[in-house]
Amino acid sequence: MIKVSGLSKSFGKQAVLQQISFEVPRGDVLALIGPSGAGKSTLLRCLNLLETPDTGLLRVGDLNIDCSQRVPGKTLQQLRQATAMVFQNYNLFKNKTALDNIALPLISAKGFSRSEARERAFQLLERVDLTKQASQYPATLSGG
Ligand SMILES: Nc1ncnc2c1ncn2[C@@H]1O[C@H](COP(=O)(O)OP(=O)(O)OP(=O)(O)O)[C@@H](O)[C@H]1O
Ligand SMILES: [Mg+2]
Repeated sequence: MIKVSGLSKSFGKQAVLQQISFEVPRGDVLALIGPSGAGKSTLLRCLNLLETPDTGLLRVGDLNIDCSQRVPGKTLQQLRQATAMVFQNYNLFKNKTALDNIALPLISAKGFSRSEARERAFQLLERVDLTKQASQYPATLSGG
């Protein structure tokens, strides 16, 4: 589950997120809808601490984080292992195939061996019917 309580984030004088609170029970799917610039991406980046919120409490699974305190490196690592994000501009490694783009975080964040990671990456591609694209580079993939 994800629980956010009183999360705020400003960039300079611009208060982008003000006292955001919501809860997503395990297994639920939540869609965030709002105009461009409303702060949707900023909120997602705050959830995995790619942006540091100014204040707020964050709960992701068993992890409880008080954003106004310094977050220990170990907690940050656990949070990153428990979350995933597709970036708006994809942020894929241009010089790596689709398969290797999926395998790389499994090696660096989850400690898989290279062969385990590639095997798991292939299974994940199979699940979304994209094995034909496994050895394609990002530049040759469609956005979807
Ligand atoms: N690193 C940053 N530094 C300064 N301002 C930022 C930064 N990131 C986002 N902003 C500002 O915060 C506001 C919210 O941006 P954000 O990208 O979260 O919007 P969004 O809802 O995801 O928009 P879109 O629908 O276009 O993706 C915008 O005004 C943006 O310019
Ligand atoms: Mg966005």
